Amino acid sequence: MNDLAGKHIVLGLSGGIACYKAAELCRALVKEGATVQVVMTEAAEQFTTAVTMQALSGRPVFTSQWDARPGNNMAHINLSREADAIMVAPASADFMARLVHGRADDLLSLMCLARPIDRVPLILAPAMNREMWAHPATQRNVKQLRADGATVLDVGAGEQACGETGDGRMLEPDELLYDLTRFFQPKPLAGQHVLVSAGPTFEAIDPVRGLTNLSSGKMGFAIARAAHEAGAQVTLVAGPVGLPTPRGVGRVNVKSALNMQKSLDLLVPSATVFVSAAAVADWRPATSAEHKIKKDGSGEVPTLSFVENPDILVAIAASPRAKSGELYCVGFAAESHDLEEHAQAKRKRKGVPLLVGNIGPATFGQDDNALLLVDERGMKELPRAPKLVLARQLVAEIARRLST
Ligand code: CTP
Repeated sequence: MNDLAGKHIVLGLSGGIACYKAAELCRALVKEGATVQVVMTEAAEQFTTAVTMQALSGRPVFTSQWDARPGNNMAHINLSREADAIMVAPASADFMARLVHGRADDLLSLMCLARPIDRVPLILAPAMNREMWAHPATQRNVKQLRADGATVLDVGAGEQACGETGDGRMLEPDELLYDLTRFFQPKPLAGQHVLVSAGPTFEAIDPVRGLTNLSSGKMGFAIARAAHEAGAQVTLVAGPVGLPTPRGVGRVNVKSALNMQKSLDLLVPSATVFVSAAAVADWRPATSAEHKIKKDGSGEVPTLSFVENPDILVAIAASPRAKSGELYCVGFAAESHDLEEHAQAKRKRKGVPLLVGNIGPATFGQDDNALLLVDERGMKELPRAPKLVLARQLVAEIARRLST
C-alpha cells in the first residue's frame, strides 16, 4: 500500500530486549515506503547491532553525538530537522526518565531535545518489565512526557522476556506500524462513535447447515479501520468471517440477521454514525431444526420455506436519533447490474442520506473495489482501488457531510 511513502522516520532504539522487534519494525517501515534513519543508544547496541539496523534501513546508523561524519558535526540538529517523526522503539524506562529531565548526554536524547517541537512529533513505544512499567516513577514520567507533547503508545500485555507476565511488553511491529500510519492520517472523525456492520449473515437450517452469501467482510473491516484512523471510536458488528479485528476497534461477532439486529440495536443509541456494510440475508428458513436433518434413504428431499428478515438499516434510519440528525446512516447496495439506477432507488427506499453502491460479484472476496456514492445532490464515483484506499475516501466523504 505504501502508506508511508514520502515520510522520513528517525527510528530511535534505546536499551531493551525489545530491540529485536525494532529490526522487524525497521523493515516494515521501509516496505511501507518510508525512508528510515536509525539512531541507537549505547545500551541498545548491547541488544542488537548497528550493522543489522544499517542493513535493514539501507543507511549508516548514528550512535554517537561525536560522530564526525556530518560536515557541521551536528548530527542531533541535522537528523531531527529532516524527520517527519521520531519514533523511539523500544523506549526504555531509563530513556523516558532522561527525556523527562531534558537530558542531552547521548545522541538520541540530545536529538529528541533538539527537535523542533511543533513540527517533528516524538512517538515513544515503551518496553520494560511489568514492575518497572507499573512503578509510580514510570507512570509519572509517562504523564509528564505526554504533557510535554510526546505521544506515548500503549504497551502490550503477556509473557515477558524475564519470565514474568503482565503489562510492559513493547507492541508488536505490525501494531507499531499501524499506530504510526494512523498518526499521519487526518482526524476528521475525532469525537464520533462509528458503528459498522460487516460480512455476511448465516441463517441456520439445522445445527450443521445454513444459508449465507459470498460477502467477505473486507470492505466493512476496511471502513472500520479507516474510521479509527480518522480519530473515531469504532465498533464493528461482524457476521461470520475470519478476518482479524482492526487495531483499536471493538468487535461483536454475530451469526444471523436477527443476532445482528439485536447487537446493533444495543449499540445504536451511543453511535453518531452507522455504516451498514453487511450483506444481510433477506430471508431465513421459517424454522431451524433442532437436530441435524437426516437422509432417510427414501430419496425424498426436504422442503424449505422462508420468512423475510427485518430490514435492519431501514429500522435504524427511521429511528428518532437518525431522523433528528444525531445519527448519520450510510447504506450499501450490492447489485449485479444497473448500479446507478438501483443505488438511487435504494437510497430513497432505505431512508438514508448516503448510499454506497457496488457490484456484488465484482467485489465479494476481492481486495479492491469501485464505489458509487449516491446522495440527494447526485452521485460520485470512487474508481477501482484497494478497499482500504476506498474506505479512507468514504470516511472523508462522510466526515465532510457531518461537518456541513
Ligand atoms: N440491509 C439490512 N437488512 C436487511 C437487508 C439489507 O440492513 N435485511 C442493508 C445492508 O446492510 C445494506 C443495504 O441494506 O446497507 C442494502 O442491502 P442490499 O442487500 O443491497 O439490498 P436489499 O435491501 O437486500 O435489496 P435487494 O435485495 O432488493 O437488492
